[in-house]
Amino acid sequence: MAATGDLTSLIEAMRAALLPHAAAAAQPYLAHWPHAHPSRERPAVALPVLGWLGTAVAGAPAGVLRAVAEQLAALATSLEWRRSYSEAEAGARFLERYGYCELAGERGPVPSSALSVGFLLLGPETLYPAHRHPAQELYLPISGIASWQQGGTAFRERAPGDAIVHGVEEPHAMRTGAAPLLALYLWRGPGRGQTARLDAAPLPGGSARAARLLSSDVGGSQAQPGRRR
Ligand SMILES: [Fe+2]
Repeated sequence: MAATGDLTSLIEAMRAALLPHAAAAAQPYLAHWPHAHPSRERPAVALPVLGWLGTAVAGAPAGVLRAVAEQLAALATSLEWRRSYSEAEAGARFLERYGYCELAGERGPVPSSALSVGFLLLGPETLYPAHRHPAQELYLPISGIASWQQGGTAFRERAPGDAIVHGVEEPHAMRTGAAPLLALYLWRGPGRGQTARLDAAPLPGGSARAARLLSSDVGGSQAQPGRRR
């Protein structure tokens, strides 16, 4: 597990990055910010997507966002990086370019019964297909201009420092370009214990809907049927 002081410092740096949004989007999340010390042992688990973390750190704007990225990079190999989908669900290419880690919450090293706090990392030229979940969510991109979609509207570029809020069961998707995306995420609400689901139709055999959805993956990758976050 990461050193207690380092994790506490990183979580505090994440809070500082959210303060510009404290009067609006981030307010209900900051009200439940976890101030406990790490007390839960979690295994260190690395994923292929970490190969893009250095690029993400270099691309983070100077200031509080760069500070968050640098502190995360210093701890990254001691954290538990996770994926919620199998290869059969999401495809090998997506799984090589996707991962997240929870720092505080019901599973992360810092216990919190009200808020989940973590990071999402996506490699370049990657589509995270439309998905939804019962928890309310706030994303703060730390590095990388990506296109974000919510509620079936058109994809829209969002920059580091923008706050992006998703409501309960609101479908949303992200698509990176040349740069990887590193984003801070927060989950709140009674649905935090439930994982997200991709909107694509389920296997087996691969559905036409899933194939269409994933064939739009930027970079021209092979379509892979799949569903769920
Ligand atoms: Fe989400």
